[in-house]
Amino acid sequence: MKILFNQPKRENDELSLEIDAAIKKVIESGIYIMGENVTAFEQEFSQFCNTNYCCAVGNGTDALEIALRALDVGHNDEVITVANAGGYSTTACNLVGASPVYIDVDENRLLMNVDFVSSAVSSKTKCVIATHLYGQVVDIKKLRALLDAAGHVDVKILEDCAQAHGATSRGGLVGSLGDIATFSFYPTKNLGALGDGGAITTSNEQFAERCKSIRQYGWTSKYCSTVSDGRNSRLDEIHAAILRAKLKQLAANNEKRRSICAHLYESCRGIVEVVTTPCVEHVSHLFVARHKNREQICNTLNDNGIAVDIHYPVLDIDQKSMNGKSYRSLNLDQSILATKEIFSLPCYTGITSAELDYIRQIFETKISVIAKEQ
Ligand SMILES: Cc1ncc(COP(=O)(O)O)c(C=O)c1O
Repeated sequence: MKILFNQPKRENDELSLEIDAAIKKVIESGIYIMGENVTAFEQEFSQFCNTNYCCAVGNGTDALEIALRALDVGHNDEVITVANAGGYSTTACNLVGASPVYIDVDENRLLMNVDFVSSAVSSKTKCVIATHLYGQVVDIKKLRALLDAAGHVDVKILEDCAQAHGATSRGGLVGSLGDIATFSFYPTKNLGALGDGGAITTSNEQFAERCKSIRQYGWTSKYCSTVSDGRNSRLDEIHAAILRAKLKQLAANNEKRRSICAHLYESCRGIVEVVTTPCVEHVSHLFVARHKNREQICNTLNDNGIAVDIHYPVLDIDQKSMNGKSYRSLNLDQSILATKEIFSLPCYTGITSAELDYIRQIFETKISVIAKEQ
């Protein structure tokens, strides 16, 4: 059997009638940019996230950059973040000229360890980017309380929800827990388009207006540019129409992902350590496990037709592109250790029970032997 790491086509095939109809309607309307689907998607997605506003943009990286600009983060400002979340927050900091300050992650879930924020925060700190990694949720309430207690009530919290559409924490939805939040609709995300897409959510009217101006040339009205740093980053009508159709399935798809995660957890339990343990609040974007003998385990999985990936293999501070860039870093022991041990298994809505059973069989018969050798 051959199991690919991701197959968004399977999920899209299930909705092919709705997706085809949505695309056809846009083609027939003759309006391809900033039409009724973008407006409706923004309204429906902000309602889904329980925020007052949504601003649809071209992709998740643009969303991060535009959100930072809306918060007025720029040169000489510091942004606290983590170094193990794929480098997207670092890219956005570089784009606006801010310096990242890296803090470590917690040992079990590999999410930002908010306890370290108090040691990292300074008079230069403008924002904390909290990435809800792998579909799990950073404790934003605790983060806010710690910042306030340290006297930094003005420091803003940006949630990066690119891997966590629909996840919750203490009853609150991601996207609504901080001051502003960003999403990616890359095809393999929990809410994925058939191309690039992104969005920013917030309940702050001023931030929302700034985002909407920045995404379109700095305009406040047609041909009238009043906000600096304007550029073009719009979500196409076709993608907005597709996302409207797919948003209706998001809750059910997240439920499917949770049950796949539970299945994978049972296959791995007692053999390798699981990072993304099943949890009703999380949305199982990725299934991440860890073991000291990662290389041999991944080779065996590959040899048996099971694709694996590593999220992520290189910390931001170790990327060559960081040479010469200004940043600060606290102790990152947990991040460094995890980078050497983690691996991700296929976890997506279209995976079949036969494929999940096969993964379990390979873990029981082969991986259990290798894992014990260490
Ligand atoms: C956590 C996180 N943030 C941001 C992004 C960037 O999104 P995009 O690829 O749409 O630019 C991604 C995408 O993979 C992501 O996983």
